[in-house]
Amino acid sequence: MHAVKTKRRINLSAVVAVSLFAILLLAGMISRNNGEKHKETPPERNEPSAETALAAENAAEPENQPEEGQAPLRAVDPDKPMVALTFDDGPSGEYSPLILDCLEKNNAVATFFEIGCNVAKYPEIDKRAAELGCEIGSHSYYHNVLPGQSQEDIAEDQRLCKEVFENAIGTDPVLIRPPQGSVVKSILNQYDQIFVGWSVDTEDWLYQNVDRTVNKVQQAGDLDGQVILMHSIYKESVQAAEILVPWLIEQGYQLVTVSELFAYHYGITPEKHYYYAYDYFISDGTLMLS
Ligand code: NI
Repeated sequence: MHAVKTKRRINLSAVVAVSLFAILLLAGMISRNNGEKHKETPPERNEPSAETALAAENAAEPENQPEEGQAPLRAVDPDKPMVALTFDDGPSGEYSPLILDCLEKNNAVATFFEIGCNVAKYPEIDKRAAELGCEIGSHSYYHNVLPGQSQEDIAEDQRLCKEVFENAIGTDPVLIRPPQGSVVKSILNQYDQIFVGWSVDTEDWLYQNVDRTVNKVQQAGDLDGQVILMHSIYKESVQAAEILVPWLIEQGYQLVTVSELFAYHYGITPEKHYYYAYDYFISDGTLMLS
């Protein structure tokens, strides 16, 4: 027993010694290889300077160009105040193009929660909006209030929306604003989308009065992080937008899309099956209904 143990110990020692030698040898080879690699490759190629990184970025730019119907990338300063203008119920063949003209003139963007059956009529309007950097959200196909609808009705609405939005902008929107802002939990779960409400209601649809709509926004206080609700189907809303867009910019707000607001102001990736509504925006992202 004792002799066997000793023999094993010797064998073990031999194995350890050989292993150590092998490790040291390998380590030497590896470090030599590294040395050779460093000799072959100039250090500046391993650690690109700011200039070469920029050059690489610029060279890669053509590949980063947006696909047809998709928004180009925009620079948003997360440290500066920002607000999201949203327009519901379009596209309107008459008024939506005027809102887009106003946004384009002011180098600004908005989010349009469009009704599917209107998108079917004016796909080119949403295509232009997306190309200007605006965001297109869904506002359902027929603008029927969601609570109370059967699963089949909802599935059919989703199918129709997918078809018209994909035709217009090449994709099904990730955002949805429920008609009248009304939704219940069981319905949230039936949509593979992010529900978005608003925090400043201009009531433009109710009064259709330019001054009233403008005042609602101008007297709403601090608008940083807020979502303003307007509609793209009234002449007075267009006129109000023509006053509000330059005014907001003058006040120092960046006009951003809703997705940009989530990313740059709230610093979040919004989740599907949740409703980011009044409470969320008014509490600066601390209150959440789901
Ligand atoms: Ni609506």
